[in-house]
Amino acid sequence: MKISQTKQSSSIIKYFLIFLILSLPLFLFLVTLQPGPRRAAGGTKTPTKPGFESSDLRIRPGYQSYEAYVQRQLNKTLNPKLRQIWTTRDWERKIKVFSRFFSELKNQSLLFDNSKALCIGARVGQEVEALRRTGVADSVGIDLVPCPPLVVKGDFHHQPFDDATFDFEFSNVFDHALYPEKFVSEIERTLRLGGVCVLHVALSRRADKYSANDLYSFEPLVRMFEKSDLVHVRKIDGFGLDTEVVFRKRQ
Ligand SMILES: *[C@@H]1O[C@H](CO)[C@@H](O)[C@H](O)[C@H]1NC(C)=O
Ligand SMILES: *[C@@H]1O[C@H](CO)[C@@H](O)[C@H](O)[C@H]1NC(C)=O
Repeated sequence: MKISQTKQSSSIIKYFLIFLILSLPLFLFLVTLQPGPRRAAGGTKTPTKPGFESSDLRIRPGYQSYEAYVQRQLNKTLNPKLRQIWTTRDWERKIKVFSRFFSELKNQSLLFDNSKALCIGARVGQEVEALRRTGVADSVGIDLVPCPPLVVKGDFHHQPFDDATFDFEFSNVFDHALYPEKFVSEIERTLRLGGVCVLHVALSRRADKYSANDLYSFEPLVRMFEKSDLVHVRKIDGFGLDTEVVFRKRQ
């Protein structure tokens, strides 16, 4: 009896060890899936600043590399059906709405006819066209895919512009940023002192399947815009985006 019990427990230990050894590869595989320090645009590591990724700003998991992320973004931007809709059915309708937003910003002295303006993630450039029609002649957009003459090629994680280039920057694609703190620091870098940044974001509903982050309040934006003051936050109705957040870079 004693002997068979010892035998039994030694075989339990044996099976346990075999189980451990067999599960080691699975364990190692799961460890590699954890979100470690990701690679930013240009292959450099983004400094991980604690506090930006929080319960009210969550980065969507699943991007194995920056290249995979860019490929997914390109998939939406290059979709021929979407581009067709953006340049036809959506064109005048969206320009009308953007023009009203820009007209309001001009009335609040946040945007001027002589402002040098940038639209970030502008796709086919509806917002750039709206700015120009509103009287802001010196306006341009950037996106991963250029769309001349309104939109030039540029990654919002690495804006292709010198420091202090713009008086005004607008974007409604914050949710597409894989590195939100880089998205914001690039805006603050290319804005002139006193320059204004207007973001249209979705706080109460989730954006589309191409989004790379989810934002649940404007607080993370206030933390990230380190060199700017909050001008206003207001509810809007902007193509599924419900909140306008405006910052001004400190003098
Ligand atoms: C891009 O879209 C095509 C079809 O539209 C799909 O087959 C492919 O998996 C997509 N690639 C990525 C990286 O999402
Ligand atoms: C901005 O002000 C102008 C002139 O006062 C006015 O005609 C226009 O309706 C205003 N625009 C908006 C969107 O409030």
